[in-house]
Amino acid sequence: MGMDRRGFLFGASLAAAAAPALAQEAADQPPMTAPGPSPAPDWDAVKAQFQTAPDQVNMNAMLIASHPKPVRAAIDQFRRELDWRPVTFLEDNNRRLQGYSRAAAARYLGVEARQVALTDSTTMGAALVYSGLKLRPGDEILTTHQDYYVTHESLRHAALRNGASIRRISLYDDIGQVSEPQMVGRLMSAITPRTRVLALTWVHSSTGLKIPLPAISAALAGVNAGRQEADQVLLVVDGVHGFGNQDADMKTLGCDVFVAGCHKWLFGPRGTGVIAANAKGWAALRPTIPSFVDSGAWSAWINDGPLPEAADGVLMSPGGFKAFEHVWAIPAAVDFHEKIGRAQVADRTALLADQLKAGLALMPGVRLVTPRDRRLSAGITSFDVAGLSADGAVRALRQQGVVASAAPYAVQHVRLTPSLMNSPAEVDRALAAVREIARA
Ligand SMILES: Cc1ncc(COP(=O)(O)O)c(C=O)c1O
Repeated sequence: MGMDRRGFLFGASLAAAAAPALAQEAADQPPMTAPGPSPAPDWDAVKAQFQTAPDQVNMNAMLIASHPKPVRAAIDQFRRELDWRPVTFLEDNNRRLQGYSRAAAARYLGVEARQVALTDSTTMGAALVYSGLKLRPGDEILTTHQDYYVTHESLRHAALRNGASIRRISLYDDIGQVSEPQMVGRLMSAITPRTRVLALTWVHSSTGLKIPLPAISAALAGVNAGRQEADQVLLVVDGVHGFGNQDADMKTLGCDVFVAGCHKWLFGPRGTGVIAANAKGWAALRPTIPSFVDSGAWSAWINDGPLPEAADGVLMSPGGFKAFEHVWAIPAAVDFHEKIGRAQVADRTALLADQLKAGLALMPGVRLVTPRDRRLSAGITSFDVAGLSADGAVRALRQQGVVASAAPYAVQHVRLTPSLMNSPAEVDRALAAVREIARA
């Protein structure tokens, strides 16, 4: 791998990291508007941007990101600026830098900058969205047994406040037989005249199943076409496990509201996340936490006036003082993906996952849970090891230097998540470790 190639991919960020006043320079640069076509990426150079311990194979991008070099550099420089002049740097730059973070996430998601709120995590986004929905007693939210704690508990808290009811259905009976028409059919036939919200998760963190959002939203558009605007069903999605590993935006997916953390597959700053919504989504939401940025909320308070009629990403961005060096470094993560190429990131993730799934599917004592079809999976690869609990298998793999995980679902599986941080050789190392624990 030549230095030229590495320089081409990351030259701007590396040069910026070396410069003493990146924050000011970065602050003076408008966000990049259109990523150019990228040549075939040098995956060794991409992997080299992560500073992970060489004695571990980290297949846990679904939990918490390791910051790649450009993100580390941006955070570092903003932190130094804040330490140097905490108040004046913040006062002079916060509005603009948060604007750049919203614009970068908006560009990535194919919406406008004002349609993105900056949050701390997927969990915060889901809670703000579900508690902020303008629902009335009698309205119904439809979700599924396969969604995560974060969605279900946010819905529980919300329903206690607004009196809406929650109904859960099963998207499938057997993950081995799951299909797109089955999932779309089950969801559409469960919608009743009272249903106002479909609360779903793009990529399930138990099984790694990617649900067919474009087909679901297309079918939902058919249902909504026969309804008055006030009775239409909103599609709200926890998108975190596709955000940063799939080449799709809000329009392709067709969802009205999308929540995600930036600190998983996007490899963005830890403690950052987004809510993105289209005009219909924002019209259905109210803020919960006062916004500190320029949203009209301060003047409404000072003049004892009403809040702006429609919420937007600025009004919905929770205020309070933050780890601003992290909030402002979001564009570095988006830029990192765009320089590599979004389609290439998605393909690389799928390629590594294909390799992992192929190895697991053939392994005695192992049951692959995640569908092998790329249309029904992303980066999460879930499996069971005969004779071991999921936690037991995770512990045994960690003893072999392979960092897998299991989440607190009623039915748990072992999860490995190949990502930009990994190489085909690491996938082989992970497979060898699984073979070893399955044999023991
Ligand atoms: C589907 C899903 N949503 C949300 C979360 C939590 O994300 P965050 O840490 O950004 O709140 C997780 C797991 O970490 C998850 O698996």
